[in-house]
Amino acid sequence: MGSSKERLVSGIRATGHLHLGHFFGALRNWLDLQDQYDCYFGIMDWHGMTTQYKDPNSIKSWTYELMADLMAWGIDSKRSVVFVQSLVPEHLELFMFFAMLTPMGWLERVPTWKDAQQEAMQSDTYNLGRFSYPVLQAADIALYRGVVVPVGQDQVPHLELSREIIRRFNKLYNYDLIEPKALLTPQPMVPGLDGRKMSKSYGNTISLSEDESVLKKKLLQMPTDPARVRRHDPGEPTRCPVYNYHKLVSHADDLQWVEAGCRSAGIGCGDCKMRLFERLNERLEGPRKKKKELMADSQFLEHQIREGVSKAREEGERQLRKIKSHLGFNV
Ligand code: TRP
Ligand code: SF4
Repeated sequence: MGSSKERLVSGIRATGHLHLGHFFGALRNWLDLQDQYDCYFGIMDWHGMTTQYKDPNSIKSWTYELMADLMAWGIDSKRSVVFVQSLVPEHLELFMFFAMLTPMGWLERVPTWKDAQQEAMQSDTYNLGRFSYPVLQAADIALYRGVVVPVGQDQVPHLELSREIIRRFNKLYNYDLIEPKALLTPQPMVPGLDGRKMSKSYGNTISLSEDESVLKKKLLQMPTDPARVRRHDPGEPTRCPVYNYHKLVSHADDLQWVEAGCRSAGIGCGDCKMRLFERLNERLEGPRKKKKELMADSQFLEHQIREGVSKAREEGERQLRKIKSHLGFNV
């Protein structure tokens, strides 16, 4: 493994199908970063459990799917270590050391928690596990001595907290865990089909493995600029969620065609959506096929998971052993 490269740690929560939001928010960046860094990518099933704890069996199938998704899109288990968080129990041991020294006030101040409290009460996830989410994330990074963590703007507070926890650990115990740096990655706003943020809980997602026919149907049903009531009414693309997707996946000449055609009522919304369907489908086609093949070969997939986990575990065990011995937690 490229030991001269800086170590990068990142992860995706295992809670459902990967959707376009995941692609533009994380996966696309991971693909670019694989060559530059010594990457550890986690399928974070414990983080998935923070909200899905009532249905642990679903987590397992998401884990498999996620592995297939990552491979289908080009995450390469030769260059990167891809692991499943719960299969490396050292994450939880380090989490516990961190939990001991993390003041409650630090967690209460995390913006994502402040924003989520109402929803957490309603969904019966106002729980210790969910509250301590960022502490586990700090352990994920520190366990592998991660130097950089690719994050979007909204995840910066989590990373700040990781750094504070690690700093406190180092000071208390005179240790040398690494304080990770945020690598700010471009994360365009990916709206859902209804124009709100794309999220599983809103039911407005486009999955990365969407069937061709379902994809077409979902796009054709999208709301458009409300000004275009009839075919000959001109519209304004910047007020239309369909145009937002065009900007993410279509070519420059498609964009010109949409802008001019929409404003002059030269094209209909159906034409516009069909063009979007073609462009998006072109992007999804290859990986969708590859994923199907992978999902059909469970032995191969399991083998890949075992291999990734064993690499991660080797490193995680080594680091945790050093930590425990330093703290006197060994016989
Ligand atoms: N919190 C991240 C997310 O919501 C997932 C995650 C878990 C993560 N552990 C991590 C990301 C460690 C980076 C590093 O997507
Ligand atoms: Fe939206 Fe395209 Fe219709 Fe314009 S033509 S309102 S951009 S769907």
